[in-house]
Amino acid sequence: MPDKQALLKKLAAFQQEQVLEFWDELTEEQRSNLAAQIDRIDFSWINELYTHRNDPPASAALAYKAKEPVAYHLSDQREKITPVCEKDYAAWNIKPAEAIAAGEEALRKGKIAAAVVAGGQGTRLDFLHAKGIFPIGPISGVSLFQIHIERIRAMQRKYHTRIPFCIQTSPATHQETIDYFKENDNFGLDPEDVLIFCQGTMPSVEYATGKLLLSAKDRIAVSPDGHGGFLAAINLPQEDSPLANVRANGILSELQRRGYEEIFYFQIDNPLIDICSPEFMGYHILSQSEFSTQVIRKQNPLDRVGNMVVVDGRLYVIEYSDLPNDVAERRKPDGSLEIWAGSIAVHGMNIEFLKNKAFYSSSLPFHIAKKKISYVVLDKNAKNESGDPLYGTVLKPDAPNAIKFEKFIFDLIPLARNPIVVEVDIQTCFEPLKNHPSQPKDNPQTVRRQLCALYKRWLNEIGIQVAPDVSIEISPLFANSAIELESELKKRNLIPASRTIEKSVYWE
Ligand code: UTP
Repeated sequence: MPDKQALLKKLAAFQQEQVLEFWDELTEEQRSNLAAQIDRIDFSWINELYTHRNDPPASAALAYKAKEPVAYHLSDQREKITPVCEKDYAAWNIKPAEAIAAGEEALRKGKIAAAVVAGGQGTRLDFLHAKGIFPIGPISGVSLFQIHIERIRAMQRKYHTRIPFCIQTSPATHQETIDYFKENDNFGLDPEDVLIFCQGTMPSVEYATGKLLLSAKDRIAVSPDGHGGFLAAINLPQEDSPLANVRANGILSELQRRGYEEIFYFQIDNPLIDICSPEFMGYHILSQSEFSTQVIRKQNPLDRVGNMVVVDGRLYVIEYSDLPNDVAERRKPDGSLEIWAGSIAVHGMNIEFLKNKAFYSSSLPFHIAKKKISYVVLDKNAKNESGDPLYGTVLKPDAPNAIKFEKFIFDLIPLARNPIVVEVDIQTCFEPLKNHPSQPKDNPQTVRRQLCALYKRWLNEIGIQVAPDVSIEISPLFANSAIELESELKKRNLIPASRTIEKSVYWE
């Protein structure tokens, strides 16, 4: 039986007694759960993180020494741009055709798995479910999960291979994701190739005071510990996995048992990703890179993406919020941006590297994110607009009210051997779903528009026009590139004599 006085004493040392506000009305079971939660929290560490919330992160100090990285260019098959860092880039002489061949061979031999991070709470989108379930298909309304899975299945079919799909969830999205996959028969993936794993959490604190918040009368509010939680989670046993080895040893161990060596990593919110791109993975493998990153050319100096830079011969990502404006605005003699490479969080990762760095997961730094977190009102005088008391009710704030402590996966890059950067075309590869439809950018409309634009571009490339106001959607299982589209349309006799598509169409 938990002892209230003992708990109060422990909490008082950190001025966090408010989490017991409703103790007297809780059942025995609720008290035990809350006491167990308190027991798991390292209060002095939370205090420390809150005290240093305004300190500039280590990467900010690097910003003034930052130079542009060397990068391969994926989409247009150009050669690499001139290196600017001093590092010996002997491995940088890989030709596109060599990269494609190496990536294809690795796929055929079953060396590449795919992993998506889908543990975020999607607070900006304000969707009631896990973001992967959001219906994004412009005509079909298929979900983000389904589009990604169809791309994976298309690659499996093309290369006669198996690509296990590892899905990071968090307590906020875990059960719903499991149920969603079950209800939909894993969207055609072999159940053995669906590896769902749950990341860890961190308590959130009120921004103004550093106080822990309650998400319910018997629960302290916690948030997933950032996409960097991937490193710990993929290495840890997953007790609810249907696979014995994953229950005992975790996802990475299972991938290694099956002979996989590399992971193609991406985020759930961008449906344009060319999953397991052979050329990208080929550069990664031939460079013997432990951690590779896709970047886009930033359109504006202050674009909200992580900035891929080189400092003293080492690659880093500096968050847009940590890059001083004068550095972001720096230009080269030709007028282009010096800090041009924006990370789109698509990575090639070596599995052995992720295993070797597992011990490091607890030392990945925490970053501060100001977010909206729902909380139980503790102010006895608080009232809503109609004058009803709010005490004890859950309130959803209109503006960010709390701090989430998050780890970022890109903090692993400086620890990796031979990390490389590959530039991709923003038009065809990057349009993330971040925001509510009421916001002007990165919202469901912009994402659907960009998906349609990609498919129209494929049609144009094969000499077919699309009438104005006509939407095109193509399932990856129908075609996953312009070349595949041409052959599929010919095979099915679908090329119009006028060579113009006049009506919206979903090819699946
Ligand atoms: P974001 O930082 O954009 O967060 O995550 P989000 O949850 O999608 O949205 P907001 O910020 O609350 O509005 C980028 C990617 O990292 C994953 C997300 O699911 C998304 O794919 N992520 C984020 C995790 O897997 N775990 C986390 O703790 C945070």
